[in-house]
Amino acid sequence: MKDVLIICYSRTGLTRQVALDLRVRLDADFEDIREGHRRRGPLAYLWGRRQASRGMACEIAQPLRWAADYRALVLALPNWAGALCPAMRAWLLEQGRPLPPYATLITQSDSGADQVRAAVTQLIGAPDRAHLCLTDRQIAEQDFHAALTPFARSLPSALGLTQPTKGRKSA
Ligand SMILES: Cc1cc2nc3c(=O)[nH]c(=O)nc-3n(C[C@H](O)[C@H](O)[C@H](O)COP(=O)(O)O)c2cc1C
Repeated sequence: MKDVLIICYSRTGLTRQVALDLRVRLDADFEDIREGHRRRGPLAYLWGRRQASRGMACEIAQPLRWAADYRALVLALPNWAGALCPAMRAWLLEQGRPLPPYATLITQSDSGADQVRAAVTQLIGAPDRAHLCLTDRQIAEQDFHAALTPFARSLPSALGLTQPTKGRKSA
């Protein structure tokens, strides 16, 4: 088992693309959050926005990995209506507390990532130790490496991984 778990929700694959790149850089374990129902069709976007903005969770497949087994987490998720997407909310609710220190990797088409971070902070009860926000355009044009490289390099220190292990550290 690695020190870091990257836990990822990605509906169309953009977040996943960056999170998998980060996985290699960090030598981390990786898990996709799988929703119980596929979001398809013209109403899926509206329903997703509504669920997210109302602070709703959704049904997800049983997690294979648990936050408590790791020294640190990276939460990789898209911005949904300036709120936490229901699948990541569900995963976080299923984990015990306290959670290990964590960083956030947020993707979005435009703006609002800080609101997402605030929602994560509220749910976990502690702020992220580092964060990176990327736009769909940066990802589609492969214009994110210049931002991802320093982010990845900062994580061992930001997440306390450069210290010897003295039991589990909380967020
Ligand atoms: C339901 C829903 C709501 C969204 N709300 C926002 C938003 O408020 N602001 C924004 O910039 N992007 C918003 N987006 C766009 C996504 O954050 C963006 O496309 C993201 O990169 C998608 O990641 P994915 O491909 O990993 O699913 C929304 C997307 C969906 C599906």
